[in-house]
Amino acid sequence: MSIPSLASLDVKGKRVFLRCDLNVPLKDGAITDDGRIRASLPTIKALIESGASIVICAHLGRPKGERKPELSLAPVAIRLSELLNREVVFAPDVVGESAVAAVASLNSGDVVLLENIRYEAAETSKDENERFALATKLASYADAYVGDGFGAVHRKHASVFETAKLLPRAAGKLIAAEVAVLQKLTMDPVRPYGVILGGAKVSDKIGVISNLLERVDVLAIGGGMLFTFLAAQGKEIGKSLVEMESIPTVKALLNRATELGVEILVPTDIVVAPAFANELASVVSADAIPVDQIGLDIGPVSSEKFAEVIKKCHTVFWNGPMGVFEFSKFAAGTKAIAQALTEVDGLAVVGGGDSAAAVRALGFTDSQFGYISTGGGASLEYLEGKELPGLTALQS
Ligand code: 3PG
Repeated sequence: MSIPSLASLDVKGKRVFLRCDLNVPLKDGAITDDGRIRASLPTIKALIESGASIVICAHLGRPKGERKPELSLAPVAIRLSELLNREVVFAPDVVGESAVAAVASLNSGDVVLLENIRYEAAETSKDENERFALATKLASYADAYVGDGFGAVHRKHASVFETAKLLPRAAGKLIAAEVAVLQKLTMDPVRPYGVILGGAKVSDKIGVISNLLERVDVLAIGGGMLFTFLAAQGKEIGKSLVEMESIPTVKALLNRATELGVEILVPTDIVVAPAFANELASVVSADAIPVDQIGLDIGPVSSEKFAEVIKKCHTVFWNGPMGVFEFSKFAAGTKAIAQALTEVDGLAVVGGGDSAAAVRALGFTDSQFGYISTGGGASLEYLEGKELPGLTALQS
């Protein structure tokens, strides 16, 4: 089954319900990285040019059905309006009077952004009847559905799944681009193919590591999760993050990698500190982390080794920072990996909202990379081979 393209949908003079992922990082009410808003612009502009009026639906954070003011999409409406250079009407609710009135007054080319869809408990409900009831209301706003919130396609949520199935539908330009890149990574990657995984929790990555072992030539491990790998190798990890319950699985993954002849690179040196703070950093061997220290970044020797391996690959996928890059003393590992990705002769993909925000915060620009995915969890689940509800729902 195929996913209809935006061009196949007749939207002239019609109202389109557009699901975007506008889940941007905020600090004190200000957007710190607008990458996901920018990534949504091509579809919004194409719909405007085709004579549609647009009802944009998105989530911010995880308010769990509560109206949390700090998770309002109001600042996103302002930024979207600036980037589009046209008015974006903000409806301060999702299915209440203001939303209904804003939708009813739309003319061709007009754009309305609904308030955070996750203020509605039914959006994320496990009960499909509750989700369906919300989806029915959302679908009543429009003549067609366009799915473009790639970062949320792994969620079986009312606005991602059920609403799509109630209307003529298509994938937006962002989802089409993301899927095209993921297909290149899964169908016939140009070798050598290297994957670098970081981030805090190894339990989130076990499925993808297991699936990737059959497909990649080299897998490099950094971030908080590396300490569970070191612990699985029997090493002392001091006060570093560890998931004891995942150690047996990690041992099994290491054995499987050896059987398959896949190289798993685990850092040989670590930047440690006595506390989780941007001070007192020192470099130690990964074989000798002092008991009173916390590992907060991969060390310089490991950064150089990872970078050397990455630059030899013709296909690279990277998800998750190597260390606590928000602290300058623990940012070097993440920076070295980002730099190496910019030098790859082939396809280098930065996977995920957090990783994308990290590379921008470290001073890199989007154009330095082959592709920056807007969906971390979504791209990992795709690479894991899981079915993604938001893509299934778009199929014709
Ligand atoms: C993301 O930030 O990865 C997406 O917006 C999905 O958000 P979620 O993990 O809260 O569903």
